[in-house]
Order: sequence, then structure tokens, then C-alpha cells
Amino acid sequence: MTDLLNQLQNHRSIRKFTTEPVNQETVEDLIRAGQAAATSSFIQACTVIQISQGERRAQLAELANNQAYVNDAPVFLVFCADMHRHQIACNLHNAPMKSGFTEQFLTASVDCALFAQNVVVAAESQGLGICYIGALRNNPVAVSELLALPELTYPLFGLCIGHPDQNPEVKPRLPLSVVLKQESYSDAGDEQALADYDTTVRQYYQTRTGNPRSQSWTEQISGMLQKEARPHMLPFLQSRGFIKE
Ligand SMILES: Cc1cc2nc3c(=O)[nH]c(=O)nc-3n(C[C@H](O)[C@H](O)[C@H](O)COP(=O)(O)O)c2cc1C
Repeated sequence: MTDLLNQLQNHRSIRKFTTEPVNQETVEDLIRAGQAAATSSFIQACTVIQISQGERRAQLAELANNQAYVNDAPVFLVFCADMHRHQIACNLHNAPMKSGFTEQFLTASVDCALFAQNVVVAAESQGLGICYIGALRNNPVAVSELLALPELTYPLFGLCIGHPDQNPEVKPRLPLSVVLKQESYSDAGDEQALADYDTTVRQYYQTRTGNPRSQSWTEQISGMLQKEARPHMLPFLQSRGFIKE
């Protein structure tokens, strides 16, 4: 296995960092790696906002469910899907911009996620650890105000980066047969494969070093999917100029 495959297959989120700083040249190298990701129709619809440790970071941590590592990580980035600069591009050519299409929301969000995952892979290649922070979307209006986000942008997620101060086990993923199908979709065999996977995941949760518990994957997912999933997101996104058509 190549070093890169090995690195990718051994990813785990890091939620405790040493106080060792990450130098700014490294951060900028990571961002350049992010920018190099493929981008739908060359739209380059991602803006990253780096938040230093201080009052604003503390407020973000509070808005993101008080997750301590948001405050403690040496580097914290907010990834924003951004079609604002496209408005500027259209204005430069006196071309009225048609916005608000769901397709544009999708392409901007996908662009931003690809950018971020390149940053993650690059960071891990440097021995750094990361944790995505989707909890910023618990309070997307307040986050947008805090970061002075203009219309046609929204905060997709945050990213903690730093030197790991923990060594968690790798979380086992779904069996390949469940995620890789040949020629067309078939869920034949998935129920049994999920039952087997449940045993693996329960074992992982029971034996992991930090926060052990007894839970299977289907238990976790079925519990989660009985709750509403941030229903404020549709009106929020519409208020930012997305998903109107
Ligand atoms: C978009 C996104 C948002 C996430 N948000 C959070 C978060 O707010 N807090 C957190 O502790 N982990 C968060 N995670 C990390 C996931 O919980 C984690 O990736 C998943 O449990 C798999 O574990 P692993 O990354 O260690 O393999 C997020 C991951 C993604 C991709």
C-alpha cells in the first residue's frame, strides 16, 4: 500500500491538540492544496476564514455547542460556500446574475467540501490532526453575523487543525459490499452486512480508549434519524440567497 493510501485509510478525527502552534506558512500551503481541488465549471466557490484564538473564536466555540476543541485548536478555519464573488464577476461585465438555483447551492457546497478535504489530507500528511465542525450550523445566522458574511455565502463547516495530543483508534467503516455496487443499485445482502458491521462497531465503541460505550451503527443512526435535522437550514439558506428555484 502506498503511503498516501495508508494515510487515508488511517484517518481519525482529533479532538485534543497540544499547544504547539502551526506556522502560518504551513496553513497557507494547506490552503493552496485546498484550492488545487477540482472545481465545478471552475467556479472556485469556497472562501476560508481563519479565526485566531481570542474573543471571536470563543464565541464560535459557544455557538458550536461549546465544543472545547474549537477554542483550543491552534488553527480554526471556517469554510464558506461562496457565490458572492461571482456577483462581482457578473457586475464587471454588466451581466445580471441569475442566482438562487438549487444546482448552484449544490455545486458551491460540493466545491467547498472538496477544497476542505484536500486541506485535511494535506494537513494529515504533515502529521497534523483535524476535526470538522458541522455544529457551526446549529447557529448559522449568528455565525454569519460574527464573520460578516455577505449575501450568497454561508458557513458550511469549521475545521480544527493542530498537533495531536491523543491517539484515537480508527473508526471502522461500512463493509465494501454496502458502499460499492456493480452496474446498478441492489441492497441484496445489505441487511446481513449491516448486522455484521453492527458487531464490529459495537466492539470498536466498547474497546476504544476514549469515551467507551456499547452501541451499534444501526442503533446510532436510527436514534439520530428520529430527530429533526436542523430544520432552520432551509429558511437560513434562502435568506442568504440560495435554494430559491
Ligand atoms: C461535515 C462534518 C461535520 C462534522 N462535525 C463535527 C462536529 O461538530 N464535532 C465533532 O466532534 N465531530 C464532527 N465531525 C467528525 C465526525 O464525527 C467524524 O468524522 C466521524 O464520526 C467519523 O470519525 P473519524 O473522523 O474519526 O473517522 C464532523 C465530520 C464532518 C465530515
